[in-house]
Amino acid sequence: MLNNGYDSYVSRETPHWEGGPSLSAEAPEAAVVAAGAPPGGFDVEMDTPIARAARTAMSVRGRGDDLWPRPDRCRVISVANQKGGVGKTTTTVNLAASLAMHGNRVLVVDLDPQGNASTALGMERTQESRSIYHCLVEDEEIRELARPVEDVPNLWCVPATIDLAGAEIELVSLVAREARLKRAFAAYDSSELDYILIDCPPSLGLLTVNAMVACEEVLIPIQCEYYALEGLGQLLRNVELVKSHLNPALTISTILLTMYDGRTRLASQVADEVRGHFGELVLQSLVPRSVRVSEAPSYGQSVMTYDPGSTGAVAYMEAAREIAFRAKTAA
Ligand SMILES: Nc1ncnc2c1ncn2[C@@H]1O[C@H](COP(=O)(O)OP(=O)(O)O)[C@@H](O)[C@H]1O
Ligand SMILES: [Mg+2]
Repeated sequence: MLNNGYDSYVSRETPHWEGGPSLSAEAPEAAVVAAGAPPGGFDVEMDTPIARAARTAMSVRGRGDDLWPRPDRCRVISVANQKGGVGKTTTTVNLAASLAMHGNRVLVVDLDPQGNASTALGMERTQESRSIYHCLVEDEEIRELARPVEDVPNLWCVPATIDLAGAEIELVSLVAREARLKRAFAAYDSSELDYILIDCPPSLGLLTVNAMVACEEVLIPIQCEYYALEGLGQLLRNVELVKSHLNPALTISTILLTMYDGRTRLASQVADEVRGHFGELVLQSLVPRSVRVSEAPSYGQSVMTYDPGSTGAVAYMEAAREIAFRAKTAA
């Protein structure tokens, strides 16, 4: 090993018990913690300005394949899991941004009354704002509702507003209530788009059913936590029900493991179990738990623009690449 100045300074010439700096070449993590790490710990990588700049430089350098293949026709993907907080919105927004950044034209449809995807994509909303509610309940056209996302060319969003909270009930009395979104997509010339990503609410009600009738692919984000697989059976049964009664083309095409904490054995056990069960459907890339991912929405951004070199952004980019390159696999 090269005897560089840093190594000898830290570990030999100035032992810290003699009043030198308490850095230790053997235990850099301990040194960082001593310097004041946040209680939740750091992102998997060192989260210093220099580390960030280095990662950004790495990601900007790219891998020499800036344009990804575009599908023959628009792929409509519902991001669904009736559990809250598993990473549906984060996944929708970051996959969409990644695909758009590589030459695909992408529309995000925010189907959750909480409107988190809309917030994360910087959609300003007021009481009067038109939203996906007006499409579902008042037959307004998607074209009129889609708005461009700032700083990300090729990316549009149909926002959600709180009106949508009432839609589950209002839809009940409408004709073809399960197929309102499908009809809206059909009226929109989706040959202009490569992907439509639908961010579903944390329920299996009529909004989610509308998403599943309007798409061919379901992407299920699974959080690498203890209860991750609980309730999954119900989701799978619902997909089967929609498939057999309303949309024969429906398949579960993709599973993405999210919020993976490599320091815990539990996370890897959950990942193994999910891979054992779903095999090829599970993307190779898994998304680590990352502070930068959770910070991005408060700046009205995806992590892809907020900190493109962060571990979370790189993971979502890899996941999106897999989706773009992998043909649709039947479940
Ligand atoms: N990889 C990640 N690392 C850290 N926090 C994350 C990550 N993915 C999601 N989060 C955070 O977890 C919370 C739930 O994620 P969200 O995407 O809103 O889930 P859902 O849409 O399924 O309810 C949010 O606060 C989000 O910022
Ligand atoms: Mg959400």
